[in-house]
Amino acid sequence: MVTGGSRGIGKTIALDLARRGANIAFNFLRSYDAAAQTEKEIKKLGVDCLRVKAHVGNPEKIKDLFSQIAKTYGQLDILVNNAASGVQRNAMDLDPKHWDWTMSVNARGPWLCSIESARLMKNGGSIINISSLGSHRVLPYYFSVGTSKAALEAMTKYLAVELAPLNIRVNAVSGGYVETDAFDSFPNREDMVAATKTTITTRSLNPQDLANAVAFLCTDESEMIRGHVLVVDGGVTLIG
Ligand SMILES: NC(=O)c1ccc[n+]([C@@H]2O[C@H](COP(=O)([O-])OP(=O)(O)OC[C@H]3O[C@@H](n4cnc5c(N)ncnc54)[C@H](OP(=O)(O)O)[C@@H]3O)[C@@H](O)[C@H]2O)c1
Repeated sequence: MVTGGSRGIGKTIALDLARRGANIAFNFLRSYDAAAQTEKEIKKLGVDCLRVKAHVGNPEKIKDLFSQIAKTYGQLDILVNNAASGVQRNAMDLDPKHWDWTMSVNARGPWLCSIESARLMKNGGSIINISSLGSHRVLPYYFSVGTSKAALEAMTKYLAVELAPLNIRVNAVSGGYVETDAFDSFPNREDMVAATKTTITTRSLNPQDLANAVAFLCTDESEMIRGHVLVVDGGVTLIG
């Protein structure tokens, strides 16, 4: 199950897990056409796909989403908490309703999706939360999202301990700047595009780099990695 699997990084993760043989469930909120296209691409890979419109900021919709997964597949092995939203403003310009929206989607949603998933992970499983460098670095217009990602990373550690008796592993992948549609809502879009290139590597970071890390954290080889935040940023934080 990949939240926000219709577009961007979530879509790449969903396709990557499908290529590795997993049946997929994903949800989306607004992009109906993109979600339908993603479903088509996943099914072309020869695996099953369940596509559900469900707002991860709404606890009732989350319950409904997981009951559809239970009905379709009976169990779950992997949850990727990828969906995120936010209001791109600095602290002084943010309203409480912006804060509540961002936290409900980026922090409360992953908590509720994780516990619903845990009920379906009958043979254990792996939960991976997608975070960003803004959880601990101060980025422009990122106040609400950055604080929500800090909560998500703390949650990663709590759930790694609390869900361990169910044989469920919980980790996070924290990405550097990856050019997606998400950039369009930032006033400093051009700076962000430029930042994707300032790495110590010869190329920009792309969604597949994050998908590779997610896949690794789902394998038995990563069994002893718990509550870890795996930074995938091409080394950009080493020099900035
Ligand atoms: N792009 C980056 O530079 C970057 C870097 C590090 C980490 N990340 C993280 O990677 C993840 C994906 O980012 P992205 O850049 O791929 O974002 P994106 O292109 O904006 O895609 C967001 C996805 O989440 C879904 N979504 C948003 N709000 C939702 C809600 N309330 N309920 C259900 N689905 C919802 C969207 O579905 P609809 O289109 O249907 O609304 C879409 O599929 C996020 O957690 C982000 O913080 C991104």
